[in-house]
Amino acid sequence: MHPSKPHLAVLSFLACGFLLTAAKPLSSDIPDRTDISDEVIRGNGLSRGNALDATVVVDTFQTGVNVPKTLFGVFFEEINHAGVGGLDPELVSNRGFEAGGQYTPSSIEPWRPIGSEPDLWLETQKASVFEGNPIALKFEARGAGDENGQLKQALGFSNPGYWGMNIEAGEEYNVTMWLKSEGSLNLTVAFLSQNGQWVLGEGHIVEFAENAATWQQRHVTIRASSTDHKGQLAITTRQPSTIWFDQISAKPVKTFKGHGMRVDLAEKLLSMKPGFIRFPGGCYVEGVRLLNAFRWRQSVGRWENRPGHLNDVWGYWSDDGLGLFEYLQLAEDIDAAPVWVFNNGLSHTSELDTKTIGPFIKDVLDGIEFARGPADSEWGSLRAEMGHPEPFDLEYMAIGNEDCGKRHYEGNYLRFYQAIKARYPFMKLISNCDATNMPLVNPADLFDYHIYTSAAALFALSNKFDGYDRSGPKVFASEYAVVGQDAGTGSLLAAVSEAGFMVGLERNSDVIEMASYAPLFVNTHDRTWNPDAIVFNSWQSYGTPSYWVQTMFNSSGGSLLIPALVQGVQGATANTLVASATKRVDVNQERYIVKAVNFGGPMNVQIQLSGLSEDALGPEVTVTTLTGGSIWDENSFSEPEKVVPVKSRVPLAGNDLLVWLPPMSVNLFEFPLAVAEARTEVHVEVQTEEHVEASFEKIAVV
Ligand code: AHR
Repeated sequence: MHPSKPHLAVLSFLACGFLLTAAKPLSSDIPDRTDISDEVIRGNGLSRGNALDATVVVDTFQTGVNVPKTLFGVFFEEINHAGVGGLDPELVSNRGFEAGGQYTPSSIEPWRPIGSEPDLWLETQKASVFEGNPIALKFEARGAGDENGQLKQALGFSNPGYWGMNIEAGEEYNVTMWLKSEGSLNLTVAFLSQNGQWVLGEGHIVEFAENAATWQQRHVTIRASSTDHKGQLAITTRQPSTIWFDQISAKPVKTFKGHGMRVDLAEKLLSMKPGFIRFPGGCYVEGVRLLNAFRWRQSVGRWENRPGHLNDVWGYWSDDGLGLFEYLQLAEDIDAAPVWVFNNGLSHTSELDTKTIGPFIKDVLDGIEFARGPADSEWGSLRAEMGHPEPFDLEYMAIGNEDCGKRHYEGNYLRFYQAIKARYPFMKLISNCDATNMPLVNPADLFDYHIYTSAAALFALSNKFDGYDRSGPKVFASEYAVVGQDAGTGSLLAAVSEAGFMVGLERNSDVIEMASYAPLFVNTHDRTWNPDAIVFNSWQSYGTPSYWVQTMFNSSGGSLLIPALVQGVQGATANTLVASATKRVDVNQERYIVKAVNFGGPMNVQIQLSGLSEDALGPEVTVTTLTGGSIWDENSFSEPEKVVPVKSRVPLAGNDLLVWLPPMSVNLFEFPLAVAEARTEVHVEVQTEEHVEASFEKIAVV
């Protein structure tokens, strides 16, 4: 939602849900690609010999600013089951039995009984060993048993996870649970097929009564022998028993960098090479009601003691397995600067008066100490205990989300701002108010800009920041995307438009410090917000065309910005073409990178790198093109790579390149400098440019 629009708390809530169904007509100035699909040539970089439509003049004499290393990043929100049932590979849903509420009896959904009353009895009780997490499950298997003491039927309970558990043959899973028993234990812990007919893998917990009488954690590692992507976990016994269970968890042994994230999803983030990661929301940070907002303090420490909370904006329970520590660790693991958005005392339906905001400020200051304080500080020591004695590199924080215009926003903002700056003067603080409209009331290092609109409208916003006051706070375009009918569930059309907008962001990266597409993830079983960059189910994932556009821009951060001027030839259709250029220095190579986004029909374009000697450039240009057969082309589980960037090489003589740009395409041209010149310049620039040095090191490691 655009923060510049005045909005009341209630409107803000509606806005978070509004885009789910908002359908916008396809803008009339976008050509219908369905009839010209046969003309598409993927990334051949060659002119078709027709008259020239436009020229892109890249003025290499004028190197501009360093593109901030943070320019293009990602925004992770707990929305669409992005984390719960997604990036967090916890397979069990409602693992602590808290999702049904704090009063007993309570719902144990989605747990299911195996067997039926009166033989089986399942009820919640406030019997947990965990203070923060009081509800536990009491289980009774009743009956006399046969001469061996065995019940005629196995009794127990099962959990389907989040729309089925992905259990794969050959993979290992750690199952843990806390329990205490009135007698001895003889439990079977098994992964079953979706229909419950097949055992995919199992383990056992057997214990004498004297060892089982008090709460203890039990572990079983199960190696699956069969695969079912929609499996379930079942805990059963054939022995008459009375057992209390709590915090039952099942996770794959393999996680991203061993730090507990789902591998395929985290790897997709890594491939985006994000300069930053904004988290954990979005509206998730606000809550419909303040009591349901994300609270960092309840999200840290051992996971069994996290109370979890209702994500009331997006309509599901979060066990807070993804807490502040996990977000910061993820940021470190993908080499992205963490950007923590915190609640400023405002929710969608209520506001704390600035006079009573003090404890919330203290809470955030403690949170900063948790992230960056020394390992012997009060909160830094908890971080150290959790496995990270070194401080995390937290340097960006956003004071609220989309709260500008609310009655107490400016008052609360200022108090947070002053308190944080007093203790952490280097912390870059982000305001929710849009400084492109009018100067901000309060000081800010950056301001947050959100835009969700049609394809034509977003493409037209490529020049949105051209006239922005260069002395104002820096821009954080933390949420942008094409939505509505133009977007489908991730169309080529949307992606090309977003690329056009990103060219504008790159060209203005003297004032734009950060930008991220939104939202990042969607579990197909909970497509609450559409479209999204990465689509997944329990076992598959793919990037939408918008995701691939993000990856095409991931070499921008740390480059040098070069002016690139688009000139139409004799009034030709250059208004559908936008371009930007950067110069990138890597270990063995220096390159000019030109991005040209064609939001119209096919075009013949000349790219001129002016200001270079005749032999300055290498003999080949690498062309990466994203296009498709139709503007409506999308990727899917069955065709995950229907719309992906395609690379090719074309010969270059001199400093001009004639190219045919496919209709509706994103094109990236890499012009390497000839080797001798590149070496000399690499030396000079790496010595002098901090940002270039950073990217130099990063690429050196890769
Ligand atoms: O990105 C989805 C939602 O859009 C975010 O939660 C919110 O900030 C915006 O309204």
